[in-house]
Amino acid sequence: MLMFSIGNLTLPSPFLLSPMAGITDLPFRLLNRSFGCGLAFTEMIGASSVAHGSKYASKMLSTTAEDRPLGIQILGHDSEVIKRSLEMISGAVFDILDLNAACPVKKVVSKGEGAGLLKEPVRFEKIVKGMVEAVPVPVTVKIRTGWDETSVNAVEMALRAEQAGARGLFIHGRTRIQKYSGRVDYDIIGEVKKALKIPVIASGDALTPDLVKKLFDETGCDAVAVARGALGNPWIFRRTAEYLKSGRIAPSPHVHEIADTMRRHLSLNIAFHGERTGVILFRKFFAYYTRGIPLKALTESAVLAKTPDQMVRLIDELWRDPVLNWRRGQKDSGMSQAKGSAFESESGD
Ligand SMILES: Cc1cc2nc3c(=O)[nH]c(=O)nc-3n(C[C@H](O)[C@H](O)[C@H](O)COP(=O)(O)O)c2cc1C
Repeated sequence: MLMFSIGNLTLPSPFLLSPMAGITDLPFRLLNRSFGCGLAFTEMIGASSVAHGSKYASKMLSTTAEDRPLGIQILGHDSEVIKRSLEMISGAVFDILDLNAACPVKKVVSKGEGAGLLKEPVRFEKIVKGMVEAVPVPVTVKIRTGWDETSVNAVEMALRAEQAGARGLFIHGRTRIQKYSGRVDYDIIGEVKKALKIPVIASGDALTPDLVKKLFDETGCDAVAVARGALGNPWIFRRTAEYLKSGRIAPSPHVHEIADTMRRHLSLNIAFHGERTGVILFRKFFAYYTRGIPLKALTESAVLAKTPDQMVRLIDELWRDPVLNWRRGQKDSGMSQAKGSAFESESGD
């Protein structure tokens, strides 16, 4: 297996789990790790909410010994607030600290945070420098290609991050204006890779094993961060590793494995969030795992399930019927899984 390093941290695989707000909590990270992801991130955590002692933020920072290596992602605009938030979490366990300069959401960029930082290169560099001075672990930065197509400045931003001491650069190959649609710009990612000495991790449409390979081939990047491709599809990590090794894409997982994985995900959710919230939060994952299944009544029932028993019964029912071995022999469905979903327009980045 290809090893990969960020600063002094050696990662077991170059296929990483990208941060996703509302998704990459401890249960989701543990599940994806079991299929071979080399590094996982918390969702973006607002520096000001950490500085104000937010309970949600401290829940998102919860981790366990198996949840390593772990990256924490910070969202902010003010270097002093970010430094204060880092003092507040100085007891937290993590291996990488990442700055989010990529989130396209309106209420984030309107505060100058996330992709808003792409418009303020000098401030951005100062923030990165402050973070590097504040923590003993490698600092990384996540950017987009630019604000819009007339202001593509990824190479400048990446060089500034490197200059400020960042040890790795994540880049989503789209502009802020594109959000999650339109073409991923492989050329800009390739230019960033050529300009930097630190490793470059590419993000954008890493939806199937062959699209992950395409990111490596077209950009020369050192690693790939998988996001939407892992929704209801943690096997993407195992199948991508196999594909890069053998040149063959393994068939989709057997229905029994899908059902087992859903049950495991549900029980991790319950252990972490408690019965009620664990089941409610699992509803969206039920939809991801079963996207494309022509059984409307079952998928509609999952949206109403309130107890672990109800949810487990639906999972059992779903996979019992052999007619529903719909995935077996099917061509990889990662692409269609990611299309047209609710998160395409308004989510973090
Ligand atoms: C639901 C959702 C939430 C996201 N939240 C974050 C986030 O908190 N931080 C971040 O850096 N990127 C976030 N992203 C962006 C992804 O990490 C990734 O860069 C982007 O989706 C492109 O990769 P993909 O096309 O393979 O999905 C989010 C994406 C989605 C779909």
